[in-house]
Amino acid sequence: MKIYDRYSDKEMADFGLKGTLPQHVGIIMDGNGRWATKRLMPRPVGHRAGMEALHVIVRESHRLGIKALSVYAFSTENWKRPMQEINALFSLLTEYFEKEIDELNANKVKIIVLGDLSPMPEKVKNAMNKAMERTKDNDGLRFCIALNYGGRSEILRAVKNVSASGVDPEKIDEKLISDNLYTAGLPELDLVIRTAGEQRLSNFMLWQAAYAEFVFTNVLWPDFDPEEYRRCLIEFMKRTRRFGKVVE
Ligand code: IPE
Ligand code: IPE
Ligand code: MG
Repeated sequence: MKIYDRYSDKEMADFGLKGTLPQHVGIIMDGNGRWATKRLMPRPVGHRAGMEALHVIVRESHRLGIKALSVYAFSTENWKRPMQEINALFSLLTEYFEKEIDELNANKVKIIVLGDLSPMPEKVKNAMNKAMERTKDNDGLRFCIALNYGGRSEILRAVKNVSASGVDPEKIDEKLISDNLYTAGLPELDLVIRTAGEQRLSNFMLWQAAYAEFVFTNVLWPDFDPEEYRRCLIEFMKRTRRFGKVVE
């Protein structure tokens, strides 16, 4: 699949693009706080700007025909932040989904929450449950929002579910664990992008990232735009994925 219509197959080959677009992109949206601090503004201003970047990148993912986009919005470790910042983030997320749901639904986007909503404030829970319910039959872009998400707690939860089902331990395989993760049924994670210069996973999709490619960019999340997204996708498409095999 081409990134932009204006590139011919020959041009794609000239770019050295070996692969196709990733089916499933994960984004660790980092750097909102620094973006605001640089402007002598409070951190939530950066989170608001980050929501605008998210709007643009979801739209672009839909336009490119990406199958699944998983974005890290709030980690299980982010509860360590000041309550004021957490509340500002939750309000922005609620506002985002209430405002965007019509456009997302019209574009056949299916919203999926990765994470445990139970300790979230009622208004966040309601907005997310409504968004999931309304879009559950859509067959377009899978837009997964990792909210109160941690890779380790996701694996732990899967193991508990499997154990509670009483399955014979000999029958436990990788597929059974995968099927009990929040991402059950989604395509394999192909690419993880992290903005703002940090080069770590911070507990994001530990199981799913086993064979993902990583692209790190110094751009702060609120400044991440379709141009930078394209640069990351092209970087991905230049990689040779071996999956343990010998590849010429
Ligand atoms: C990412 O931006 C958003 C969340 C983690 C919710 P940060 O808030 O982590 O911004 P920095 O890393 O402090 O700049
Ligand atoms: C990771 O960013 C979590 C999200 C983007 C939601 P953090 O800013 O929380 O990660 P650390 O603390 O720098 O590892
Ligand atoms: Mg950060």
